[in-house]
Amino acid sequence: MNNKIAVFASGTGTNFDAIVNAVNEGTLDAEVSLLVSDKINAGVIEKAQKRDIDTVVCTPKSFTDKAAYESAVLADCRARNVEWIILAGYMRLIGPTLLESYANRIINIHPSLLPAFPGKDAIGQAVDKKVKVTGVTVHFVDDGMDTGPIIAQEALSITEEDTKDDVRRKIQAVEHRLYPHVIQSLLTKEEAK
Ligand code: GRF
Repeated sequence: MNNKIAVFASGTGTNFDAIVNAVNEGTLDAEVSLLVSDKINAGVIEKAQKRDIDTVVCTPKSFTDKAAYESAVLADCRARNVEWIILAGYMRLIGPTLLESYANRIINIHPSLLPAFPGKDAIGQAVDKKVKVTGVTVHFVDDGMDTGPIIAQEALSITEEDTKDDVRRKIQAVEHRLYPHVIQSLLTKEEAK
């Protein structure tokens, strides 16, 4: 099958690593053909380079507008025959250029049970609200902020004693297992069509 995927990330890249590990272990039947980062000093870039994965660092401010930025990224994806775009901590809304070219083929992972706590610092929002249950959502990307159709969710309990770092650790443990699994399910479904 060997589906070609691009991971878009702006941060440390622990989900990126989990995806590449799943590919290497054979539980995710895909090729990570490209990492796209919009932050020149994102930790994920070094992770990709260590693993010899093609990396494109593309900062929106060096383009005239979002459409020009996304056209450049789109060209990088098309040049590698990328079929799916996997957002993993990509801190930017996706615009029409990419949405139209990859309709229903862009997915995101978010560290809350959407529609609760969309946007930035979902973990901090959950801790501040003292919720007892939070979780992880994988969803298709649309033009809103964490609003696309939900594909999968997993809940986890938190206690009053849990600090934000404790909650982040719990969330990450779920993310690193759930995301590769959900990506594999999508690829399998697509294959069966
Ligand atoms: C994850 O919590 C993900 O849910 C959110 O951004 C974070 C990225 O973390 N969208 P990492 O860079 O993969 O470690």
